[in-house]
Amino acid sequence: MKRKGIYKPTVEDAIEIGGIETLHPGGFALTQRTAELAELKKGLKILDVSSGRGTQSIFYSKEFNVEVTGVDISEEMVKTASLNAEKAGLNSKVKFQIGDSQFLPFDNNVFDVVINECAVGIPDDSQKVLNEMVRVVKQGGKILIHESTWRKNLSAEEKEEFSERYGTTPLELTEWLDMLEKAGAKKIIYEFEQWSEPEMFWKIRKDREVKHWFFIMSITEKLKTMKRIFTKYGIRGIFTILKNERIFFRTVLQGKLGYALFKGEK
Ligand SMILES: C[S@@+](CC[C@H](N)C(=O)[O-])C[C@H]1O[C@@H](n2cnc3c(N)ncnc32)[C@H](O)[C@@H]1O
Repeated sequence: MKRKGIYKPTVEDAIEIGGIETLHPGGFALTQRTAELAELKKGLKILDVSSGRGTQSIFYSKEFNVEVTGVDISEEMVKTASLNAEKAGLNSKVKFQIGDSQFLPFDNNVFDVVINECAVGIPDDSQKVLNEMVRVVKQGGKILIHESTWRKNLSAEEKEEFSERYGTTPLELTEWLDMLEKAGAKKIIYEFEQWSEPEMFWKIRKDREVKHWFFIMSITEKLKTMKRIFTKYGIRGIFTILKNERIFFRTVLQGKLGYALFKGEK
């Protein structure tokens, strides 16, 4: 589904503008589980698609001694991620570059594992993102994604409005499974319920235990984010983001939206 951008800034925009280090539900517990299912080990070549600020790429390299290439469409994200890798003393093993996940700038069959954390639903064509992930992974290699997934039946209109406000397109569990299969992934497994509890949507910080969505960002981070939103979108942007956030968390608390981890092999 193509989003039209009528409710900008979206929840995704606000999280990205906010500058926080890790950007997906399930937080680090889910990143750790992703690494476990990927069976990361020394020497493997990993592609982190939509690598954001590089937090997960750096973690994978540090913990499992793997070589990571991160690719992200945002120049600002790539810059910050590269700086973070340098600070961690890992710039020879973790590299970031600009690229669109729908047209990955890599040859076929290059990586042992290709991961996409929370960004398959953002671009216009999620199927293309999955096709590309399968294309660049080696034969027998693994692809892993985690994404927002509907837990209850909603009307098409409700889904569409929600996706516009969220800035990403959640799908039904069966839709994700069908798309992975269509991309060429085999032996697909998934974990859904354990990553779908509402708390998972605010346990997104790396080093901070958050018990309520209101505390995802500190007061200072919130003020900084609002200032940036005001500068970019004006006063209407502030009202829009407050409404988008309210609708987002209400949908999560009503148990309508969950989060699922998928693994497939080529
Ligand atoms: C929700 S964040 C996820 C970042 C990181 N994977 C994480 O979990 O912390 C989404 C990221 O996707 C990137 N992105 C959006 N559209 C993209 C595209 N078409 N190709 C590559 N990256 C994209 C954004 O710049 C942002 O860094």
